[in-house]
Amino acid sequence: MSIPAPMAMLAELTHRCPLSCPYCSNPVELTRKEAELTTGDWLDAFRQAAELGVLQLHLSGGEPVSRRDLPELVAGARAAGLYTNLITSGIGLGEARLDALEAAGLDHVQLSLQGTDAAMADRIGGYRGGFDRKMQVAGWMKERGIPMTLNTVLHRQNLHQLPRAIEMAQEMGARRIEVAVVQFHGWALPNRAALMPTRAQSDEATRIVTEARARLKGKLVLDYVPADYHTEKPKRCMGGWGMVGLNITPEGTVLPCHAAETIPHLRFETIRETPLRDIWYDSAAFNAYRGDAWMQEPCRSCDLKKVDFGGCRCQAMALAGDPAATDPVCRKSPLHAEIQSCAEEVATSATADFSYRMM
Ligand code: FES
Repeated sequence: MSIPAPMAMLAELTHRCPLSCPYCSNPVELTRKEAELTTGDWLDAFRQAAELGVLQLHLSGGEPVSRRDLPELVAGARAAGLYTNLITSGIGLGEARLDALEAAGLDHVQLSLQGTDAAMADRIGGYRGGFDRKMQVAGWMKERGIPMTLNTVLHRQNLHQLPRAIEMAQEMGARRIEVAVVQFHGWALPNRAALMPTRAQSDEATRIVTEARARLKGKLVLDYVPADYHTEKPKRCMGGWGMVGLNITPEGTVLPCHAAETIPHLRFETIRETPLRDIWYDSAAFNAYRGDAWMQEPCRSCDLKKVDFGGCRCQAMALAGDPAATDPVCRKSPLHAEIQSCAEEVATSATADFSYRMM
């Protein structure tokens, strides 16, 4: 098969973060500051990415603002010809820092929203005062006209706030809102009982998004990631394994997706030792689930196999114990009924306490 060049790269600059969200998608084992790539390592990675064909660079974490060299990294990425998108909680961004990032050429910011009021947001983020700081940062960005997307992660405890989140995106002058119902990777899996939405909540979220898309056409774009366990069709995770994008962890490991290290038999290479081009085209891990040759039934004979690629490999690993299995959220998976009844049962759990992400 012919392998396309990657379009996007997610640089997880650091795992350090002032928030400790219970659905954080970072691995349960976090990388310490001392092991992070240096400024020079990252700048070299950005140049290699641009040469490989990457167009969009997402600067993420953890909290990427925790890196003091962030303006230098943005300037280097822009010099390499990359479009730069900062994914941040806003905590730690003062006006001077924002000005430095703008001067460095930052193209776009995705601001996370944990809840639409301080009580909810600060409890979910595990950081008192975080919501007020975030609102201040949103105001500074609006004043400066920095293009912004508001990112919301919704779950059983805050899904009722979706209409207000959509209003807030408009008030902030955002061009886009990403409405993502929590996906159960990283820290979200052990918090599943406290986060799983009910089917009624999941249906209501779809209704609200559909209505808002029609009402706000031309004013606000709504991206929507529905509740995974309550759907019938699996998501086309990462646009297909090794087809559209790649991730680099804080210590330089190159991954096809943020959760790929949960697949135990795969060995991932590091940008410290191997050129990015060689990893993308030739590494065993990137080739493991490309295309459809690896598929088993029912994926192998499915009409949709080139549409959804059998869903998410990491979720197949987590729920079926086999990364080459059909993602159990698919209605054709032999585990589908079991996953749906598990979701129904977990969603009615009385558990509201979170196990917070800790360094
Ligand atoms: Fe790894 Fe979906 S998160 S393939």
